[in-house]
Amino acid sequence: MLLVTGGAGFIGSNFVLSTIAETGETVVNLDKLTYAGNLRNLDSLRGDRRHAFVHGDICDREMVRKLLSKHKPRAVVHFAAESHVDRSIAGPAAFVQTNVVGTFCLLEESRSFYESLAGTERERFRFLHVSTDEVYGSLGPNDPAFTETNRHAPNSPYAASKAAADHLVRSYHHTYGLPTLTTNCSNNYGPYQFPEKLIPLMIRNALAGKPLPVYGDGKNVRDWLFVLDHCDAVRRVLEGGVYADPSVAPVLATGTRVAGTDNTPRELSAREVEVLQLVADGQSNKEIGEELSLSALTVKSHLSRIGRKLGTGDRAQMVALAMRAGVIR
Ligand SMILES: NC(=O)c1ccc[n+]([C@@H]2O[C@H](COP(=O)([O-])OP(=O)(O)OC[C@H]3O[C@@H](n4cnc5c(N)ncnc54)[C@H](O)[C@@H]3O)[C@@H](O)[C@H]2O)c1
Repeated sequence: MLLVTGGAGFIGSNFVLSTIAETGETVVNLDKLTYAGNLRNLDSLRGDRRHAFVHGDICDREMVRKLLSKHKPRAVVHFAAESHVDRSIAGPAAFVQTNVVGTFCLLEESRSFYESLAGTERERFRFLHVSTDEVYGSLGPNDPAFTETNRHAPNSPYAASKAAADHLVRSYHHTYGLPTLTTNCSNNYGPYQFPEKLIPLMIRNALAGKPLPVYGDGKNVRDWLFVLDHCDAVRRVLEGGVYADPSVAPVLATGTRVAGTDNTPRELSAREVEVLQLVADGQSNKEIGEELSLSALTVKSHLSRIGRKLGTGDRAQMVALAMRAGVIR
């Protein structure tokens, strides 16, 4: 079961249709149906029990929470966004709301959901954020193509809002160990694209004998990706992708079981174990933060989460429980 956001839009609907056709996996599809969402894209799924459409906003945390706890998806695949550069120039607020705040809401709820999982369900869970190559800015005529290691240099409010979302996603992996994946693809084309975008706009204008509007001097170059190839790639990344940043992947490499005060085993993330080890070594929150490059607030939130898991807010007791389980020295 996948929770897909924005699955009535251009790429999202192609993803929902092709995933169900190719894998048979059930999809819960959360979409606000803005001007860009179109349920007719999904007509062929009417009555199909493998598709459940939910009309709602990713900023509605309660709704997201309920969907996660009801359907227990193995992954969240996040397409929902305000996606048109020109609109972001005319009115950037909606872009910050959906692309930044909305992604934050999804991350927060996915984090709580992930923390409630155990065993295989926890190991399998992924949060896949669909981003864009526009976060990297523009290339000169002789520059090589962008890669994921390029610096973020967004040039429009749209690109800036997606870059902000990329950073939040990365931080949720680094700070909380949420298993996140981010893809940054180039422009897509194909069926169900809203007619305001370049290729459908040009075709419609050409057919109607209208002028073909081109930015600047017409020498700009863009890479174009067929939308179903993009959907295949998203599925490939979902199955085999490496967490947001390979250099921080070890944070997720282990989960470690410690019996709490009620004797029930709880799984601590590797990061939580690291924090607890430093508590056991007598370090203050400030020293732990410096050692692990975390803010004092993050250390505090790790400790309160460990406390909630183990049923005690007492540092010495947490350390004792973890030592008894052999998780720390
Ligand atoms: N189209 C491209 O060429 C392209 C290229 C690279 C990356 N992307 C990214 O891929 C994703 C999908 O792009 P697209 O072209 O299909 O976009 P789109 O504008 O066609 O569709 C976006 C969908 O999200 C929904 N939505 C918007 N705000 C929402 C909210 N607050 N809550 C729930 N649903 C909401 C809309 O109703 C719509 O169905 C976006 O994240 C975009 O940044 C697109």
